[in-house]
Amino acid sequence: MCGIVGAVAQRNVVPILIEGLKRLEYRGYDSAGVAVIDQACCLARTRSVGKVRELEGRLDAHMEGATGIAHTRWATHGRPATENAHPHICRKTVALVHNGIIENHEALRRAQMQLGYEFTSQTDTEVIVHEIYRRLEETADLLAAVRAALPSLRGAYALGVITNREPGRLVAARRGSPLVIGIGIGEHFIASDVAALLPVTQRFMFLEDGDIADITRDAVTVYDAQGARVERPVRHSELSADAVARGEYRHYMLKEINEQPRAIADTLENRIGVDQVYAEAFGPAAAGLFADIEAVQIVACGTSYHAGLVGRYWFEGLANLPCAAEVASEFRYRKPRVAPHTLFVTLSQSGETADTLAALAYARELGFARTLTICNAPESSLVRGSDLVLMTHAGPEIGVASTKAFTTQLVALLLLVTALGRSRGLTAEGEARIVHLLRSLPGQIEQILGLDTAVQAWVPFFTNKQHALFLGRGTQYPVAMEGALKLKEISYIHAEAYPAGELKHGPLALVDADMPVVAVAPNNTLLEKLQSNLQEVRARGGELFVFADSDNDIHEDPRTHVISVPPVDDLMAPIVYAVLLQLLAYHVAVSRGADVDQPRNLAKSVTVE
Ligand code: M6R
Repeated sequence: MCGIVGAVAQRNVVPILIEGLKRLEYRGYDSAGVAVIDQACCLARTRSVGKVRELEGRLDAHMEGATGIAHTRWATHGRPATENAHPHICRKTVALVHNGIIENHEALRRAQMQLGYEFTSQTDTEVIVHEIYRRLEETADLLAAVRAALPSLRGAYALGVITNREPGRLVAARRGSPLVIGIGIGEHFIASDVAALLPVTQRFMFLEDGDIADITRDAVTVYDAQGARVERPVRHSELSADAVARGEYRHYMLKEINEQPRAIADTLENRIGVDQVYAEAFGPAAAGLFADIEAVQIVACGTSYHAGLVGRYWFEGLANLPCAAEVASEFRYRKPRVAPHTLFVTLSQSGETADTLAALAYARELGFARTLTICNAPESSLVRGSDLVLMTHAGPEIGVASTKAFTTQLVALLLLVTALGRSRGLTAEGEARIVHLLRSLPGQIEQILGLDTAVQAWVPFFTNKQHALFLGRGTQYPVAMEGALKLKEISYIHAEAYPAGELKHGPLALVDADMPVVAVAPNNTLLEKLQSNLQEVRARGGELFVFADSDNDIHEDPRTHVISVPPVDDLMAPIVYAVLLQLLAYHVAVSRGADVDQPRNLAKSVTVE
């Protein structure tokens, strides 16, 4: 949460910082701010509540400087307000942006107040800038001051710090929150994410946990947690600035929904042959490591957790492996019993979700045999911290509501299930069948996207509703959960998902004419059961919206609306039907005038607990 950008250059960096903030806005958008060292060698700052465009509107045309930092905020400590927006400044001398949470901020605040420091915000961040200022007075060196201040902080941080006493210098540090350095020609940058800097560079240095970087126009010097000078490799990003542009689409979410055929094809590329999944897809060591695996534990959050729930059915049903799936925020505080030879699998779009990272660290303590991540962000903390990695090649996902990350995670899970299933009863024919189905999946999704107009026709039934139920059975139950999550997060309609067989154990009491009930009904062995459950809804005056396989015997009537879906193999059905639920949530949110890409109170990447 929160996005930070910084730059040291020879040119005016304000436009670079503002463009960077716009590209980081998915990380938080409660308030934003920018500070530069101006030509008079003073710190000039502008802050604003709301989005970056609000900040832009407030900028003085004369605000210019060659060294600067900027921030877009997702409020944790202190409400969204101008005084809580970053950068925070101490005594007109040190300015700082921060992503993370300082857990001991109250104790530090009390101590600093006794020393006469004045507080202008309710944030946990402000103590850091005072702490650094205090050390700057002693050392007269920004790097030394930051280094001396950091040990007093408990918690997570990515920091960018500047001072008008050393105008051409930017000091950055990270512990627990992501930070990348952009390498330019005669100029250098920092940001929470490479996406922020793509218009100015494609060369990046990823800081490790505990690193401090001393950055000037001409040099970047990195010190590790022990204070030793270290070299961090410079990597070339394949992403172009356009990859994170919205293009002709009204919203990123719609663009990302429509990108799914390509995202899935890219995720499959070089991972499948004619009839088989390549073991090399998981790295050179994978084949040897997989041979020992006897169980799987999946841990993730939100949409990624829903993908994990689908995966559980596949691991047990296809690969004959016991599998559990759990949300990271619960797993990390539990005392799980770890069966020998259990593979610990994390799923994440961003690779920076704090709870998932903490769960991975905990898994190491608990002694899981191996860790594997399925992740969409190269060089992210999860990728770097896992033994094995399977990247989803969905491309940057900017809309807060996860779409293409979910479907590519499912594809990646199927690759893993197939690779692990090989030595556990999955036959060569079985593997070939999965591979063929996967190969035809992008085309199938393309066809499904053609149902967009039919989905839009349902929108008026939802626009003014307060609640909705989603039903599914088997692998479609997590898909229903995902549909409900999509609807609630972007349209603010309260939505819940149930395995359809559970209706009669309570939720049926909620069914009335004001409660639209959405059901996903592909052709599978549970279809008849699901149809009985739908009858239960109908009999109680509920209004049904059913995505049904065109071969199914589900008929329209005045209170049963059916979208006929081209037949799809049961194995691919969770991926295909998820796309329809994404479209439904998207169009309903648009009809309610909601901010689809940046829903209230949320951020794309949850890097704090
Ligand atoms: O980056 P991750 O996949 O680890 O993020 C996990 C969740 O925060 C994320 O899926 C969230 O639930 C989305 N906003 C859902 O659309």
